[in-house]
Amino acid sequence: MRKICIINQKGGVGKTTTAVNIASGLSREGRKVLLVDVDPQGNIAHSLATQKSLNLYHFLSGKCSYVDCVTSLGTNLDLMHSDESLTKIESDFATSRNPTQLFSKQFSDVAGYDYLIFDCAPSLGLLNQNVMLFCEEAIIPVTTHYLPMTGLSGILEAIQDINGHFGHNLKVTHIVPTLHDGRNKTNKNMLAKLEEDYPEITTHPIRVNAKLAEAPASGKSIFAYDKRSRGAKDYGDLVKTLIKSEKPKSKPLEPISMRVQRMMAHVELED
Ligand SMILES: Nc1ncnc2c1ncn2[C@@H]1O[C@H](COP(=O)(O)OP(=O)(O)O)[C@@H](O)[C@H]1O
Ligand SMILES: [Mg+2]
Repeated sequence: MRKICIINQKGGVGKTTTAVNIASGLSREGRKVLLVDVDPQGNIAHSLATQKSLNLYHFLSGKCSYVDCVTSLGTNLDLMHSDESLTKIESDFATSRNPTQLFSKQFSDVAGYDYLIFDCAPSLGLLNQNVMLFCEEAIIPVTTHYLPMTGLSGILEAIQDINGHFGHNLKVTHIVPTLHDGRNKTNKNMLAKLEEDYPEITTHPIRVNAKLAEAPASGKSIFAYDKRSRGAKDYGDLVKTLIKSEKPKSKPLEPISMRVQRMMAHVELED
């Protein structure tokens, strides 16, 4: 099970758009995905309708099991949503002996998915530290605009600090340039800088595309809203990149009786 957080302490850089569309794209490729909204603003529940009253807050505070607060959004895709109640978790942290390990503790029981995708709030607070300490991979969306790019080192340092302090190994696997306008000079320069500074992990840019901004209002991913759009092409490519880096599933061990039979057949042939 891959555990991936979509994180950046800046708002409006395309975290939610990226989380929703890679979760949907992966599910369309047959992967079982749980999308977890870790933003108390609860953006995802507004765009992908869910009526469940129980949510991530209830799960984290031990009031329900994950099955009770997960909504199916279609084949292979489930959502654990959030709302403002998630801010109450900060007071649970205050009384907890291990305030950074709550996610790791609660999510350790979650099973049956190929991917857990966490859409983070724009902050570096305890909630996000929890998510970072549970996840193994981080995807950082960053717009190819000047100010958000200058904030990139902040999130990279925060990840380094968390890893160093807790002996964790959260890897930044992809920096995703978002809201990219190839005709704009600053955007072009910023993309070139990203590609120069982080050549191995910078992905193809996600271009500005009105369809990506329209899709949430109709409660759909970009693939359901307009599969021929540039947004669908760009997020489709990102999904392919993620699939390419999947570890091969280990083959189940052959039962011992079969192995013995095969060995015996071999021995007889050699006689
Ligand atoms: N590639 C894109 N083209 C056009 N609009 C986009 C694109 N990516 C995101 N948006 C829009 O930009 C706004 C911020 O994106 P969002 O994913 O909510 O960012 P974050 O979660 O980082 O705050 C939203 O209105 C979203 O619809
Ligand atoms: Mg968001």
